[in-house]
Amino acid sequence: MAEFKIRIESLYKIFGPRARSVLADVQRGMSKQELLERHNHVLGLKDINVDVTPREISVIMGLSGSGKSTLIRHVNRLIEPTSGRIVVDGQDVLAMTKEELIDFRRHKVSMVFQRFGLHVHKTVAENAAYGLAIQGMPIREAKEQSRKWLERVGLTGFENHYPSQLSGGMQQRVGLARALATDAEILLMDEPFSALDPLIRTDMQDVLLGLQEELHKTIVFITHDLDEALRLGDSIAILRDGAVIQQGNPQEIILHPADDYIFDFIKDINRSRVIEARSVMTPGESVDDGPSVPHDLVLEEALQVVSAARGGQANVVDAGGEIIGSIRLNQIIDGIARPTEGGDQEERYR
Ligand SMILES: Nc1ncnc2c1ncn2[C@@H]1O[C@H](COP(=O)(O)OP(=O)(O)OP(=O)(O)O)[C@@H](O)[C@H]1O
Ligand SMILES: [Mg+2]
Repeated sequence: MAEFKIRIESLYKIFGPRARSVLADVQRGMSKQELLERHNHVLGLKDINVDVTPREISVIMGLSGSGKSTLIRHVNRLIEPTSGRIVVDGQDVLAMTKEELIDFRRHKVSMVFQRFGLHVHKTVAENAAYGLAIQGMPIREAKEQSRKWLERVGLTGFENHYPSQLSGGMQQRVGLARALATDAEILLMDEPFSALDPLIRTDMQDVLLGLQEELHKTIVFITHDLDEALRLGDSIAILRDGAVIQQGNPQEIILHPADDYIFDFIKDINRSRVIEARSVMTPGESVDDGPSVPHDLVLEEALQVVSAARGGQANVVDAGGEIIGSIRLNQIIDGIARPTEGGDQEERYR
């Protein structure tokens, strides 16, 4: 299997009638502000390079206007780039014919939107079957096949309701069932849970994580919420003003924020509940006298184990029980206390 499912290469998007002619200025470093003032064009995306790993959840995070929706819509070519390349499963999306593109959108990728995107005059069952119906499946069969997905998202019994009769969380479950029913390998989710109340939102995150454990879809998930990103993301790319300023796994981002903007994003999180034992351990060492903690145990819990251990230390073990390192009380406390790179950053933020 290829190590990436989606590859985005040197992608630029400029909004405006003369996008191509101002591209060179942007490539030479003209800022979003300057582009707007001088040429009256909007910089959407600037030199984006992102690889999406198959069967993982890749989160794209950024503030409003940072370019998240613009980026995700390039993947199924709802937006044409000003320049750059998008490859999905080895296929150049920009080289697809109209027919290939239609097929690609019907079978390979599925979108889930923030505002659910349901048909108000169709029932829950009809909405869930919609993706299959446009693939050409007879509606009866499509409804039959999507029934199990409605069940999976907890909507059995609501098949004949209309969207307006459902809560926001339930409507988004319909959106999810519709996307899953088509059997698409790739889900593009543009802030799917952002319109939901916090508790419902956490519920929906659980639903998604539960499904993903079993289905292993390749998911591109957009959010502006750090907690959601950390909870769902196997990897996270952070966008600002149309550029990716850091990408990595959640642990890397929290331990080594690339700049002040990202530091600002992460400074208020509860580090003890996010940073895992493996991120602060001494790799390759072991201790004779001490308990074992799983490598992905969060520091809050590792602290309990290690502080209760006689020697104030423990071995860190991988999923197979092999020792991969050791961890001491002071490493845990340092990890919880402050960004490891952040002495100077903290100064600046005081
Ligand atoms: N069709 C368009 N024409 C002109 N400018 C656009 C267009 N679409 C997006 N933009 C601009 O591109 C930038 C990125 O917009 P985008 O919608 O991708 O942001 P976003 O990160 O999804 O924001 P939000 O969190 O509010 O959804 C913004 O400055 C926006 O104004
Ligand atoms: Mg958006």
